[in-house]
Amino acid sequence: MAKRETMRLRVDFNNMMAQRVGEQGITVEEIEQWRDAAQAAAKAMVEKRGSMKWRELPYNQAEIVKDICRTAEEIRANYENFVVLGIGGSALGPIAVQQALNHLHYNDLPAEKRGGPRLFVEDNVDPERMEALLDVIDVKKTMFNVITKSGSTSETMTQLLIVVDLLKKLYGDEFGSHLIATTDEKKGNLIKIARDNNIKTYYVPDGVGGRFSELCPVGLVAAAVCGIDIAELLAGAAYMDELCAESDVWKNSAYLAGLMQVISMERGKNISVMMPYADSLKYMADWYAQLWAESLGKRFGLDGSVKCVGQTPVKALGVTDQHSQVQLYVEGPHDKVVTFLGVDKYRCEYPIPQGFEDIPDVSFLCGHTMNELIQAEQRATEYALMKAGRPSFTITLPEVNAFTIGQLLYFFEVQTAFAGELLQINAFDQPGVEGGKQATYALLGKPGFDEKRKELAQMPASDPKFVL
Ligand code: PA5
Repeated sequence: MAKRETMRLRVDFNNMMAQRVGEQGITVEEIEQWRDAAQAAAKAMVEKRGSMKWRELPYNQAEIVKDICRTAEEIRANYENFVVLGIGGSALGPIAVQQALNHLHYNDLPAEKRGGPRLFVEDNVDPERMEALLDVIDVKKTMFNVITKSGSTSETMTQLLIVVDLLKKLYGDEFGSHLIATTDEKKGNLIKIARDNNIKTYYVPDGVGGRFSELCPVGLVAAAVCGIDIAELLAGAAYMDELCAESDVWKNSAYLAGLMQVISMERGKNISVMMPYADSLKYMADWYAQLWAESLGKRFGLDGSVKCVGQTPVKALGVTDQHSQVQLYVEGPHDKVVTFLGVDKYRCEYPIPQGFEDIPDVSFLCGHTMNELIQAEQRATEYALMKAGRPSFTITLPEVNAFTIGQLLYFFEVQTAFAGELLQINAFDQPGVEGGKQATYALLGKPGFDEKRKELAQMPASDPKFVL
């Protein structure tokens, strides 16, 4: 079998179906009732492909990939640290891919074993975190990559101001050579700053929103710097794109997943739990949380009607959260769909040694491997949920590698866009996030936000009765 087929993701929907989970599950007839809506959504996915520029990223970046690989080589040779400054879609992808594809304690490895600089993704403006970062890096040995599509996000600009101040003290007007800017080619402040200060720049293409940007330079630069094969990531995404070309939901796993989630939402299952059974996939759940929440959590439909739709994403980790959240999933309200992420072949096998032979409750583990244990626990949790009538589906990666991660990222992007079409909402804007950004500008005195400032000043005063 060709490598691509052996590395193809498998998606098992059995535990979504009524024949397995009873009345909380979905029937084939129900899916058939959605046939027209699903066909219309599939048609829209084809017709709107031109505007969904993230769908072309697997194909149109050959030159950019070469450039990124050259830059990455230089950084690897000259720097001990690579620090990403960004937030939301400009941070969650780099974090998820680094966790998935590099050593789980990458930053703690000795330099010769790492083969690349340590990676820090700074996605908050907590002053303690900034101070902590500066305690553990030597700025002289650090390359900074500031990422903001809009080029104006206050959090990222704050981080940039701090870093530029430090770099200027070291390098004066030459500070720009220790920075990379990833931003929109035409809009925003960062592009101007980059041009004025000779900063190496990569672009976030038009039509690629923050949460759909991991497969453009937003994610590819940090990944390449840390030794990840970015061409393979894109090859995996291209393969998933081919698999997603089918318009029939029964032949397109991303569409079927989107449809089943939407049917579940309509039945009040407003929580989407993602539970990877692999530490390497732990932050995929964070990346997915933003993608799913920001894309589908919408007040208005495409026709302007009030919809207030969306599913709240919840992050869990197998087996860790079996000992914290699974009790709720099995016995709590019927308001969840669980997506399990499993792995056939972990990157190593760890045997459980012999010991405590006189205690059978412990020694039954001996002679097995940790691989068998984690996979048995995944199967057991899937089974427990199924027995309790709780729907779930499982995506299995034959291995966690750049090719399968590329597939996984692209799978969720298509699932999300298709669900958006079914819900008849715009999955690619985020007016709710903009509201918060604008209020912050007003509170901190940004020019042009006087009206907003006045509006905020009119907020009803705090009633001391409610402050305890
Ligand atoms: O998905 C999105 O568009 C947002 O979550 C953004 O990624 C986030 O707000 C950061 O925006 P920017 O990259 O413009 O700084």
